[in-house]
Amino acid sequence: MEGHPVAFSRSVITELMVPSYANFGGKVHGGTLMSLMDKLAYVCASKHAGNYCVTVSVDNVQFLRPVEVGEVVSLMGSVNYVGTKSLVVGIKVMAENLQNGVSKHTNTCYFTMVAKSADGSTAHVPPLILECEDDVRRFCSALQRRRIREEGVAFMTEYKAAFTDHHDVADLLSTERCLLAL
Ligand SMILES: CC(C)(COP(=O)(O)OP(=O)(O)OC[C@H]1O[C@@H](n2cnc3c(N)ncnc32)[C@H](O)[C@@H]1OP(=O)(O)O)[C@@H](O)C(=O)NCCC(=O)NCCS
Repeated sequence: MEGHPVAFSRSVITELMVPSYANFGGKVHGGTLMSLMDKLAYVCASKHAGNYCVTVSVDNVQFLRPVEVGEVVSLMGSVNYVGTKSLVVGIKVMAENLQNGVSKHTNTCYFTMVAKSADGSTAHVPPLILECEDDVRRFCSALQRRRIREEGVAFMTEYKAAFTDHHDVADLLSTERCLLAL
């Protein structure tokens, strides 16, 4: 399977934040930004894979700063990592105030997408050609996040299965803001 460089599928979405995107506090809804990020992840992943792709998980969604109505949001996406049938698309979101030209970084997150064939089965994705140090750093970082997520899933599966026999609950909760009233 022939690979593609990161630049092959790198994509940008730019959109004006109109009043209908606002929440009750007058700022842009987090869900509006999530929807734009999901679209961009789809574009990058499908272009690299040459196939339809679905979103399977999203890591590191943190809204560091609010986005105001009237700002222009630019989302930059690139494939950071490919596995066998999955890809990770890294997305950086910037918001610019057109009146004063100030740009702010609002968030960076990582969408894991899985490629699908026309018959709906999961499909292999082409390798990623890493052409610079940033490409290598992003690929290695995604690989580490994947390992941490897999270890986390294994830990929680075991923890939940053993929970009824767990004797440390009182200790674990002693400094938390809850009251045991069983
Ligand atoms: C995505 C989906 C096809 C994966 O099915 P599956 O049976 O787990 O597939 P596989 O076990 O073959 O895994 C395929 C890849 O997905 C990855 N994957 C599966 N579940 C994952 C998860 N929760 N987080 C991250 N990666 C995951 C696997 O690691 C594997 O990666 P690799 O091929 O690079 O090694 C299935 O979960 C699905 O259809 N989900 C719904 C997707 C969807 O509809 N999204 C839109 C939102 S409504």
